[in-house]
Amino acid sequence: MVEAACFTPRPVHDGRLISGIPLKWLPLPRSLRMKIHINGQLLDKEDAKISVFDHGLLYGDGVFEGIRIYHGRIFRLTAHLKRLYESARSICMEIPIPIEEMEKATLDTVAANNLQDGYIRLVITRGVGSLGLNPFQCPRPSVIIIASTISLYPAERYEKGLNLITCATRRPTPAALSPQVKSLNYLNNVMAKIEAIQAGCEEGIMLNEQGYVAECTGDNVFVAKNGKVYTPPISAGGLDGITRQAVIEILGQLGFSCEEKMMTRHDLFTADECFLTGTAAEVIPAVQLDRRLIGDGKPGPITAQVVAAFRELVKHDGTPVTYAS
Ligand SMILES: Cc1ncc(COP(=O)(O)O)c(C=O)c1O
Repeated sequence: MVEAACFTPRPVHDGRLISGIPLKWLPLPRSLRMKIHINGQLLDKEDAKISVFDHGLLYGDGVFEGIRIYHGRIFRLTAHLKRLYESARSICMEIPIPIEEMEKATLDTVAANNLQDGYIRLVITRGVGSLGLNPFQCPRPSVIIIASTISLYPAERYEKGLNLITCATRRPTPAALSPQVKSLNYLNNVMAKIEAIQAGCEEGIMLNEQGYVAECTGDNVFVAKNGKVYTPPISAGGLDGITRQAVIEILGQLGFSCEEKMMTRHDLFTADECFLTGTAAEVIPAVQLDRRLIGDGKPGPITAQVVAAFRELVKHDGTPVTYAS
């Protein structure tokens, strides 16, 4: 059995002692323990387990979504669920519950964990099968919903901007696997992330096979130049990001033109500004690529406007969670 990897929200780690035992070592009362949804049941984190024969583990065979909760609202939940069901359909996997039930289960899991702000991970695995690859021997996919928190980059990078490298690892051609499938096999992105971290950077630009900018390891890319904003088209090999779409809408409302354009590293080196978007990343400036400054090496004014507008948007654009009073 594999225990779901996640963190239990704890009371404040303030060094308090109870009967000489640090508070953080005492078991949490049941009502405060993280609850994880597995196949229709809300389980304590310790009991949230799936089989080692699940093809999600054996082959990375499955799909997932990462979704943010802001101020008690789940941001763009419908769009995330649509993408989840499309990813599943693309890999011939029938999610065992209808989309409306998934929406309710997601809202209920967030409410059960009393999370006003956080991050949801929806995971659908192919399910239990034999050790062989054949997915048709897995009768029922497993549904896992984790409501927790995430922090992708150090907080100061949201002020100072990220340093990027160009990864040698390329995005796979769509002929191998469509980048639109958010599959449980993220090794391509993991290898690129390793390169970025080993180069002392927080994030890496991933090119497609032709050398055009596709995206980052878990984010979409935008640049600003001469007052206009550009982002690679989805056909360059990136995921059709939900934050990307929200930012394109924001740019329109702010009066900036945003054009989809095939880009090379040249377009990033010569841009005035660069920023990344993603559910986990949110909107974050990038100020260096391969140790060269982008613009003047500081987050720019268009980026600042987008960040501010995005923070406003998430306050009201979302499906409200009903919490127990
Ligand atoms: C590879 C990749 N690109 C881009 C994104 C950003 O997409 P979204 O804004 O929908 O989170 C993600 C995260 O989901 C991702 O995994």
